[in-house]
Amino acid sequence: MTYPVPIIYDGDPGHDDAIAMLLAKASDNIDVLAVTTCCGNQTIEKTTYNAQRVCTLIGLDVPIGMGQARPLLAQPMTAPNIHGQSGLDGPRLPEPEVGLSSLRAVALMAKTLQEAERPVTIVSTGPLTNTAALLLTHPELKAKIERISLMGGGIAHGNWTPAAEFNILVDPEAADIVFSSGIPIVMAGLDVTEQALIYEEDFDRIRALGGEIARVVAEWLDYFYQFHRSIGYIGAPLHDPCAVAYLIAPELFEFQDYYVRIDTHGEFTRGATVADINRQTGIAPNARCLTGIDRQGFVDLLAESVRRLSHG
Ligand code: BDR
Ligand code: CA
Repeated sequence: MTYPVPIIYDGDPGHDDAIAMLLAKASDNIDVLAVTTCCGNQTIEKTTYNAQRVCTLIGLDVPIGMGQARPLLAQPMTAPNIHGQSGLDGPRLPEPEVGLSSLRAVALMAKTLQEAERPVTIVSTGPLTNTAALLLTHPELKAKIERISLMGGGIAHGNWTPAAEFNILVDPEAADIVFSSGIPIVMAGLDVTEQALIYEEDFDRIRALGGEIARVVAEWLDYFYQFHRSIGYIGAPLHDPCAVAYLIAPELFEFQDYYVRIDTHGEFTRGATVADINRQTGIAPNARCLTGIDRQGFVDLLAESVRRLSHG
């Protein structure tokens, strides 16, 4: 990887999206060029407002482009059971001091790519609606996309259905377009993100760093932890930050390169990421699937990121 990695951050904040944005902002290895929003965890109005509040909190001053109100073809679906009615329930957040771009998400992505001096990585931590729409409307910009590092899917199982993970399930047609695009994909699926667990002692450590950012992050983690404990997890799986952490510190991860396809038709498996783990198709891999993580190293990266943003 050539550092710093220029990225467009596309997500649906969301507690874990917000923490992923913080990791990106805090790292010298990443240069955030723009933020775009999609509907997913909540409606597009709410995820966009949340993106503005998170950018204000962490001091990320880049154009923010609002996405569209619904997936490409599927009916909209949200996750208030996990992220609350606001999409980012828990601690009070500052009101936005950063405005919205006059460009909508796909137009902002296109402009950012056109103006970039070198290929850009798209980080996607929500449904892939914007990235798919970009590829459909601007196929000439494919060469300007170095890779797509995404949180989504799971080789072994899903979390919203037995087969499908939320981000892929919300917009399987978009995911299909992205996985068929030929652009290198890094897939931080449930296989790795459910190992990226945060425990009480981890957010106590972050809270003890002091200051507003540390307090808010600790409360987000606490909120996320309480929900996941209530459904049987032993810690809070920090899904979305894995897609950013891989870019900052790939040595924290184990991976396998597989050919992955999206099931868009299955009665029981719509939205599944089907990986050719036994190499039966003879088709070359299209995705680097993260399979393992140095959990302590990941927590240390998170704590150091909060410390840097809080205290310089
Ligand atoms: C994904 O779903 C969302 O609720 C999270 O923000 C994450 O992107 C995990 O399945
Ligand atoms: Ca998300």
